[in-house]
Amino acid sequence: MNMVAPNTDTPRHDASEYMHWAKTLQAARFNLGNSGVAAVTFQELGAGLDDLEISGPSFYGWPPLLEALAAHLAVGTERVCHAEGTSLANYLAMAVLVRPGDEVLIEEPTYELLVDTARHLGASVRRFQRPRSLGFQPDLDALAGMIGPRTRLIVLSDLHNPSSARLAEGMPSRIADLAASVGARVLIDEVYLDAAAVAPPPTAHRVDPRIITTGSLTKVYGLSGLRCGWVVAEPELIARMWRLNDLLGVIPAHAAERLSRVALRELPRLRQRAAAILDPNRDAWNAFLSRRADLLEGTPHVAGTVAFPRLRRGSVATLCDRLRALETTVTPGAFFSEPEAFRVGLGCRPEIFNEGLERLGRVLDSWD
Ligand SMILES: Cc1ncc(COP(=O)(O)O)c(C=O)c1O
Repeated sequence: MNMVAPNTDTPRHDASEYMHWAKTLQAARFNLGNSGVAAVTFQELGAGLDDLEISGPSFYGWPPLLEALAAHLAVGTERVCHAEGTSLANYLAMAVLVRPGDEVLIEEPTYELLVDTARHLGASVRRFQRPRSLGFQPDLDALAGMIGPRTRLIVLSDLHNPSSARLAEGMPSRIADLAASVGARVLIDEVYLDAAAVAPPPTAHRVDPRIITTGSLTKVYGLSGLRCGWVVAEPELIARMWRLNDLLGVIPAHAAERLSRVALRELPRLRQRAAAILDPNRDAWNAFLSRRADLLEGTPHVAGTVAFPRLRRGSVATLCDRLRALETTVTPGAFFSEPEAFRVGLGCRPEIFNEGLERLGRVLDSWD
């Protein structure tokens, strides 16, 4: 099998090339491909056996968890649908809004599964640019020119995957205005939002209730295994998502709900843990980037868990192959429609990150 393997020419409607790569080819001793913060262990979480139970009264959400999620998001429980990760949250949100043939406008570059999910639902997907030259902000004029009567949904990520750019102040509402002009909605995937600052910004739904948001504890909090995700939207849509979820998973694993409840209690400490990993890695990355400006284009990283440098010359596939020979992985930019770029995850433990960077430096030293 090809080591890099992105295939963007023949999109399938029932599979994700990126996810397949991530599950089968990303693992390495120095894995800089992952977008999340290093996994929290049961012990680190501070949970005890008393916190666990196998079954509980979880129908449309386990009430203690739903209340904790609503408190974290600063909205009422009727505005929250608990879902298995941001992945299922995105699916539920799109599935209640989009019918086959509807037009969905999705940022480019983006997390490939947002596109795959919309296509899976039969949407006609068009892409609007978040160009590197605009600091990965959406090109609003281009977006305005694309919106039409068939547009049903506009989809973005904030922080942006793959660049970690934060949407400019007021941008979500300006996009919601554009969407409202044709009766469409806006979905913002906020799985990385809590890495924006020590005191995380509010979910965009709180700032502008027309906007639907999704998120989870998987990335910033290193808790992927708990699959604790959510959608935030108006109560009518949330009720439809709960009912749709009846067809998919019925209820989550209760033990995971219980541990997620513990995690929500521990969020301030887990945020500090994330900062203790991300801050030194960010400093190391920015120093590396300024030393390697001969071959790498990118702006200093400010916040978030991933960086997205562009290789000034040569092939990223070759770079990835040479890195792999040194037991190191990054994510090829072809998965983000930018084959000259690659994504570097800043969330692994600093000793792993520094060793991975050292190996990237070795590959660049002998770049022809
Ligand atoms: C933008 C974005 N949304 C969703 C996900 C999946 O998140 P989860 O693990 O919470 O399902 C990812 C994973 O990389 C992502 O980058």
